[in-house]
Amino acid sequence: MTVEAGLPDTLRDLPAWTPDPVELADLELILAGVYRPLTGFLGSFDTAMVIAGGRLADGTPWPVPVTLTVPKDLTGHERIVLQDPEGVPLAVLKVGEAWQDPTTQAWRLAGPLEALRAPAHGPFHRLRRRPDELDAFEGGVLAVATREPLHRKQLGQLRQVAERLAAKVLVLPLLGGEHDESLVRALLGVRKELPEGTQIIPVPLPARGDRERDVLLHAHVAAAYGATHLLAEREMEDTAIPLVVPEPWAYDADVEVWRPVARIEPDHVQAELTPERLNELLDAGEPVPDWFTPPAVAAELALARPPKRSRGITVFFTGLSGSGKSTVARALADALVERGGRTVTLLDGDVVRRMLSAGLTFSRADRDLNIRRIGFVAAEITRHGGTAICAPIAPYAATRAEVRRMVSAVGDFILVHVATPLEECERRDRKGLYAKARAGQIPEFTGISDPYEEPDDADLTLDTSRLTPDEAVAQVLDLLVDGGWVRPE
Ligand code: ADX
Repeated sequence: MTVEAGLPDTLRDLPAWTPDPVELADLELILAGVYRPLTGFLGSFDTAMVIAGGRLADGTPWPVPVTLTVPKDLTGHERIVLQDPEGVPLAVLKVGEAWQDPTTQAWRLAGPLEALRAPAHGPFHRLRRRPDELDAFEGGVLAVATREPLHRKQLGQLRQVAERLAAKVLVLPLLGGEHDESLVRALLGVRKELPEGTQIIPVPLPARGDRERDVLLHAHVAAAYGATHLLAEREMEDTAIPLVVPEPWAYDADVEVWRPVARIEPDHVQAELTPERLNELLDAGEPVPDWFTPPAVAAELALARPPKRSRGITVFFTGLSGSGKSTVARALADALVERGGRTVTLLDGDVVRRMLSAGLTFSRADRDLNIRRIGFVAAEITRHGGTAICAPIAPYAATRAEVRRMVSAVGDFILVHVATPLEECERRDRKGLYAKARAGQIPEFTGISDPYEEPDDADLTLDTSRLTPDEAVAQVLDLLVDGGWVRPE
C-alpha cells in the first residue's frame, strides 16, 4: 500500500466523498484483504443476491451487503476519491455502477478500489494487522470475535476449547462501539489468562443489527486472518470456518472455580451475575466481584460505565419561548454548583444563539443545525463526565431524538418538557416577542406561526403556570438525586 504525502496531480480534480463510519470500516477491511473475495463496494445485483440468499451473484457465500451511499450529484463521475472525516484521501473508487436502492431510494456507487494510503485512525491502531502481515501458521487457530470483554467464564471456555482443538488463540476485538479503547484494554489485560502465543488484533467492524449475518461475517473475517475455528454461542450451518460452541460453564461456589456445569454438584452452582445486576453494581460504584471477572476487566468496566455520581449527564429543557426554561435551567445550574460535586455548563437558547449559533435564522434547517450544535457540545461535556444543561426551544421531535441518541452513547440524558401553556407564555411576553409575532413582525414564531412538537418522551414535565421556579427546580433536583446522579443533601 502506498503512502503519499499529497494527492497525485491526476487525482486532484476528482470529486471527493467522506463515507459514513460503517462504510469507512468496510473500506479499510476491503483494502486490507479481510473482506476477500470482495475488492470493492457491491453493485445492485450482488447486493440483491446477498440480501435474498447470502451469496454474491457468482455464487460465493457472502453474508452482508457492503455498499457505499453517496448523494445523487456524485453519481455521474467515472472515479471519485474516498476520504476520511478529516479530508485525508484513502482510496480511489473506479465507478462501475451507480444505482438506486429499491427500498431506501438512496444512491450507491459500486466498483473496484485503489488504495492511496492505509487509514490511520482509531484506537490501538498499532495492533491492527492486515492478514498478509501475519506469520503463516500451520496448526489450528481458534478465533473469538467479541464486542464484550472476556470474563472468567468465557476465558475458561476459551482455554478448554483451544486445548481440545490443540489450537492457537486469536482474539478479534470488534471495534465500532463507544468504548473501543476500553474493550481492547480489557482484552489486553487478560492476556496472561489466555494460552501462550495468543494474538489480539482489533478489527473495525460495527454491528449491522442481524445477529446471524453478523456471525457469518465474523467467520469470514476470522478465516481471512487464518483462523480454522470460530468460538460461537450457537451452532450455525454454512459458515466460512466451523463454529465451535463451548459446553456450559458455571462457578463452583464450593471449590471457588469456574468449570463445566456437568462437573459441578447442582447445589454448588452459583447463580450468574446478570447484565442488569452488573450494571447496578457499576452504577452504584460498587466493586464487581472477583469470582466473576479479573480485576483488570473490572477496572475497564468501571471506566466504560462510571458510577452515576460521576457519570456525565445532559439535562435538556424544551418548551416554548417564555415557558420558563431559562429561569429553571439557570436556577438548576446554580443549585448544582452550590451542592458541589459536579461541573456544570449551561447552554441557554438565547445565549447559544449569540455565540455558537450566531447568524442562524429560525428556519427549520437552521433550528435543526442550532440544536445539533447544542447536542454536539452537550455530548462532549457528557463524555467528559460533566453536566450540560441545555435550554433551547428545540421544537422538533426528530432533532431532540437525535440529541438524545448522541448523548446517550456517551452518558446519560434527561429530557425536561417545560409545558407552560402558550396562553401563559403569551400573557407573560417578557421580551415582547409574542406581540410582535401576532403583529406579523416576526415570521415563523414558535407557537404562533411555526410548529412546536410536544414531546412524548419527556422524563419530566413542568408547567410553570402552576409551579414556582423553586418548586420546578426542586422537581428536577429530586429526579437527579433519585437517579443517583447528584448526591442527596
Ligand atoms: S430553537 O427553535 O432553535 O430551539 P432557540 O431556543 O435557539 O430556538 O431560540 C429561541 C429564542 O429566540 C426565543 O426565546 C426568542 O427569544 C428568540 N426568537 C427570535 N425569533 C424567534 C422565532 N421566530 N421563533 C422562536 N423564537 C424566536
